[in-house]
Amino acid sequence: MKERFLVNGGTRLEGVVGVDGAKNSVLKLMAATLLTEGTTVLHNCPEILDVPLMRDVLVGLGCEVDIDGPVVTITTPAEVSPHADFEAVRQFRASVAVLGPLAARCGEAYVALPGGDAIGSRPLDMHQSGLEKLGATTHIQHGAVVAKADKLVGANISLDFPSVGATENIVTAAVLAEGRTVLDNAAREPEIVDLCDMLNSMGARISGAGTSTLTIDGVEKLSPTEHTVVGDRIVAGTWAYAAAMTQGDVTVTGIAPRHLHLALAKLRVAGADVETYDHGFRVRMQGRPQAVDYQTLPFPGFPTDLQPMAIGIAAIANGVSVITENVFEARFRFVDEMLRLGADANVDGHHVVLRGVEQLSSTDVWASDIRAGAGLVLAGLVADDVTTVHDVSHIDRGYPRFVENLNELGASIERV
Ligand code: UD1
Repeated sequence: MKERFLVNGGTRLEGVVGVDGAKNSVLKLMAATLLTEGTTVLHNCPEILDVPLMRDVLVGLGCEVDIDGPVVTITTPAEVSPHADFEAVRQFRASVAVLGPLAARCGEAYVALPGGDAIGSRPLDMHQSGLEKLGATTHIQHGAVVAKADKLVGANISLDFPSVGATENIVTAAVLAEGRTVLDNAAREPEIVDLCDMLNSMGARISGAGTSTLTIDGVEKLSPTEHTVVGDRIVAGTWAYAAAMTQGDVTVTGIAPRHLHLALAKLRVAGADVETYDHGFRVRMQGRPQAVDYQTLPFPGFPTDLQPMAIGIAAIANGVSVITENVFEARFRFVDEMLRLGADANVDGHHVVLRGVEQLSSTDVWASDIRAGAGLVLAGLVADDVTTVHDVSHIDRGYPRFVENLNELGASIERV
């Protein structure tokens, strides 16, 4: 039976909320444990559905994985299987993060391709060409990406676009390659830095993490480690936008504010009072937000994963906002649901023009992906009555205790 959320509009959010480790980091860190033999312990893991899904992928490859609340312990055997089959990977895209580690550890990898995604097409050409530069052959066969290499050798690689996933797979392959790899136009996301930090603590030699040039000197072997997952900037950003939209006062802990610099700066332009601390921030908003334009870009640009929240605040802002999606150009299915809630929005290519309305009008809406689902709940908080958000299993994949956190801040949401 599919679950749905009944969101009562008109509440104001107030209080303190902590964020756990980032979904987009923990899954890659789990995959990276394939690079070593022995037991690695990850702390601050979020209790979301994708973590047990990645456990199943790793178990299928021969690992033992224990999830105990925020602590995930992974024991990787001397021999891992290079085959990640469709049954294990079909439910989530992040499973492709095992490609680089398997190619490096086994000299071959067969990773079934998950199906399509609601946020648009997600090709793997940069993952493949990066591995090929390192000396692997790759092809797509029977629905799987196949990589083979007698040995990986360091190379100079330039990405066409700073893809997060391609950067991760190239780094995790290059750490055990022979010699030096220089990766230009690498992704700079905090989750990449987190992965490089963990790999370095396992004995890898990576420098430049957080810049667009990564230098990786291959080593013979890595050792298990213990690592704390970086805070989830997208969850933190979701709470920041929820606070501003509901004219609330919310303090978010467990996150480095520099990881959300632009998203918080945009809230200031919209009229919010934003204070930052070492490990958190506070967002206070009085009155209706002002219209602000947004462009999604790779980090440190405005994150595409917060694009639904930008659309949400623009939908009720005073004035006209233009939101431009540059990362996943098909990511506007969410706008159709916002139209159902009474938003005044026009999509033109990869732009949406929003004329803010005073109040959204509650109805039934459907979540198409994790972030769109969260965005719809935020919209429901500022609608005039009870908004029913369907297909909320998407939200559970990425947000731990989503409803509980919001209700503790003063929302009135029921899961049925
Ligand atoms: C990751 C995040 C996702 C986030 C995205 C961008 C995870 C599990 N997911 O996804 O939440 O929205 O980063 O910040 O970490 N592309 C190609 N060829 C490739 C690879 C990518 O054309 O080989 C394109 C994609 O179609 C997309 C763009 O590059 O248009 C960015 O994708 P990428 O940065 O790779 O995102 P993901 O790693 O899939």
